[in-house]
Amino acid sequence: MSDDIIAIDGPAGSGKSTVARAVAQQLGWSFLDTGAMYRAVTCEVLARGIDLHDDAAVGALADTLTLTTTPRVSVNGRDVQDEIRTDTINVAVSVVAANPLVRQAMVSRQREWAKSQPLGTVVEGRDIATVVFPDATLKVFLTASVEERARRRGDESPASIARRDNADSTRVTSPLRQAHDALFIDTTDRAAQDVAGEIVQCLKSRRSS
Ligand code: DC
Repeated sequence: MSDDIIAIDGPAGSGKSTVARAVAQQLGWSFLDTGAMYRAVTCEVLARGIDLHDDAAVGALADTLTLTTTPRVSVNGRDVQDEIRTDTINVAVSVVAANPLVRQAMVSRQREWAKSQPLGTVVEGRDIATVVFPDATLKVFLTASVEERARRRGDESPASIARRDNADSTRVTSPLRQAHDALFIDTTDRAAQDVAGEIVQCLKSRRSS
């Protein structure tokens, strides 16, 4: 079991998932997409017809769910890999992710999961370096121009991305923020493998110093 964590945060379309996967692959570590967890919870809330704004009911449900993110995203054994990327979920997930009870349930799962990995873990999301793993081995904050982020999220409109960014950054519980000690990388016009290489180099040079 390993305590090594690379925590990667940033807004939608900043390249987090692609870069985090590439870093994990280069290091032979595990990878966790925490956005997929919030999306999977949202799928189940909608499937059960629970009011999205009923924090207590949504929080109680989040506590009981069985979630997987690899090899495919599933909730209670139901495959939601495709459903989590639909417009319905893009809109509803901001409400579910702002629920403090849901966040509490997801954060403890994320910590448990990372603890059980044999080598290190690369975890990406919005609050990973600030709340979930404040003592991460390396913290990274990715961003990119609005145009580039909209291009990367081809299936989501720029207006939807802007709305979600605003909701994620202004919510009361664990808003998207750059940790003060995070490595800041603008990924605009850069290949994911190149950015991943920079992160791996940074990890190696910190370890050798
Ligand atoms: O990374 P993503 O777009 O799949 O994330 C989906 C939503 O989940 C996003 O609007 C913000 C939320 N989220 C969060 O609040 N905290 C995380 N650690 C990851 C995602």
